[in-house]
Amino acid sequence: MERFRDRVAVITGAASGIGRALALDLARGGARLALSDVDTDGLARTVARCRALGVDVEGWRVDVSDRAAMRGHVEDVLARFGTVNLVFNNAGVALVAGAEEQSLEDIDRVLGINLQGVIHGSQLFLPHLIASGDGHLVNISSVFGLFAIPTQSAYHASKFAVRGYTESLAIEMAVSDHPVAVSCVHPGGIDTAIVRNAVVAGGRSRGGFEELFAGMARTSPERAAAVILRGVARGRPRILVGADAWTMHLLVQLLGSRYQTLVRWAGTRTLRRLDDQAVEAAARGPEEPVARAG
Ligand SMILES: NC(=O)c1ccc[n+]([C@@H]2O[C@H](COP(=O)([O-])OP(=O)(O)OC[C@H]3O[C@@H](n4cnc5c(N)ncnc54)[C@H](O)[C@@H]3O)[C@@H](O)[C@H]2O)c1
Repeated sequence: MERFRDRVAVITGAASGIGRALALDLARGGARLALSDVDTDGLARTVARCRALGVDVEGWRVDVSDRAAMRGHVEDVLARFGTVNLVFNNAGVALVAGAEEQSLEDIDRVLGINLQGVIHGSQLFLPHLIASGDGHLVNISSVFGLFAIPTQSAYHASKFAVRGYTESLAIEMAVSDHPVAVSCVHPGGIDTAIVRNAVVAGGRSRGGFEELFAGMARTSPERAAAVILRGVARGRPRILVGADAWTMHLLVQLLGSRYQTLVRWAGTRTLRRLDDQAVEAAARGPEEPVARAG
């Protein structure tokens, strides 16, 4: 962690989950922190916990999908800290719905936050990462940027795109001899609020997805942050988080597009189970609405 001492690190989506855990780990390592989120209460809690560790930290309310707001954020961070060494484009949201069931507004929202947000954070901070002489750009994709499952097409579109964008940028930095390392992160299931805050459409049960996710999210956000920062310290271009991410990565390498047969088999059983749960939930009455982040 000594590598991060006195470095200025920007983290989007720092109010919760992986973003908060990254902030706390970097604070323990003595980094200076520029944190942002749309959830101002959660962000204030992250800032307070980092400050209690004795580091220089500031929090801003920023919607990563808003280009003008991100431009203003870059100016604010530079005015406050003078330089930027690390950028973690981490903010993200989930949408659970079949391709025919998603509204165009929900698709825009997922692409706006998960993809445009990453592009805004990458492009707008890039000149300053280059100028720092020792920059590192870290974009959070997902294991769902490596292989696909049903009910996640918009999320997959955003996360596959983040991977393509980030890998292209990594090669550009290398061929241009710019002093910026670039990492694309592919977490497997991490035990955070992401599914609780997800938009679930198509009449399926939110509770069913939460239960499914709880069974799959085997890695804590703290563990995820530790793996990500170790990968960053070692300059890894691709960082896989969790045994599930490694398994799927190897499976896709081995099977190529034939992995889809395997997912089709597992997906049919899972969707049938979720549909049964939805029928039971409908019989019990409406579920509590969940506030969307952002
Ligand atoms: N949890 C997982 O299993 C998992 C797996 C793979 C990838 N990821 C990715 O990790 C990243 C972090 O997610 P998490 O699991 O910690 O979820 P989380 O819900 O705990 O945290 C996401 C944060 O992003 C913030 N956010 C949402 N919309 C925003 C916007 N428009 N502008 C700024 N901030 C916004 C939320 O308020 C929240 O604090 C996301 O990009 C997610 O897609 C998560």
